[in-house]
Amino acid sequence: MVEPDQPSTARMIDFWLGGEHHYPVDVAAARAFEQAYGPCAPIFRALRAFLGRAVRAIAATGVDSFLVFGAGVPTMGNAHEAVGDATVLYTDVDPVTIRLGQRILAGSDRAGYGFGDATDIGTVDPALLHRFVPGWGRRPVGVVFLGLAAFLDDETLAHTLDELYAATAPGSHLAIDFDTEELAGHPEALAMMGPAFRMRPPASFRPLLGRWTPTSDGIVPVTDWRPDGPPVRVPDAFHGAVAVRSAG
Ligand SMILES: C[S@@+](CC[C@H](N)C(=O)[O-])C[C@H]1O[C@@H](n2cnc3c(N)ncnc32)[C@H](O)[C@@H]1O
Repeated sequence: MVEPDQPSTARMIDFWLGGEHHYPVDVAAARAFEQAYGPCAPIFRALRAFLGRAVRAIAATGVDSFLVFGAGVPTMGNAHEAVGDATVLYTDVDPVTIRLGQRILAGSDRAGYGFGDATDIGTVDPALLHRFVPGWGRRPVGVVFLGLAAFLDDETLAHTLDELYAATAPGSHLAIDFDTEELAGHPEALAMMGPAFRMRPPASFRPLLGRWTPTSDGIVPVTDWRPDGPPVRVPDAFHGAVAVRSAG
């Protein structure tokens, strides 16, 4: 694979998680960000642990296939590793990330990787969807939407989530997170995220979920979402929820 000359947030996260799928350009960007913000590894470990707890909780409702948007690098406790017997389709818009994901998953009969723009479900390859999320639209499935909300404005996010609601069968579940205003206290780090980066106060998020109903766990710091033990204490950078598509 030709070494990329631009960093990617997905591979920076892989670096912070201690993975093996990043390049010097990603490490340089991750270190520059940490200079401006502070240590990131504990925050992204906590976020990945939330992903694991969320998809396991969704699987426990009987769901056995997942569609992941803005998937990034499919390792280090990502969905198919967290739920050992489910099938998973990872999607992203970044061609370098997609190629990397396809290489990592080559030979897997349980997980695949393809293009998918979260704001337009029609961009997901129907053949891949049929293979890895066979119940799409007919049976409950899991939709993973992590690390994405910050890159979508309110209108686009609300519309996208409503389209996903309409496309999935009753009983489907959505795992979602968003960036709190934590970065506002670190202007230099915030500037590195670019002008389109969106932070949201937690109270503003519920309306964006529209018809999706959060479980009784609520919309909470990701560390506090059904913690396995005493919640890990990290800066409160991400809130998350699991939400359900009701019957009918
Ligand atoms: C911050 S990374 C998160 C990666 C992964 N979810 C994780 O938690 O490690 C955001 C990812 O979303 C992708 N992305 C950005 N806009 C997208 C869109 N409209 N649809 C799908 N993916 C998108 C980026 O290419 C990037 O890989």
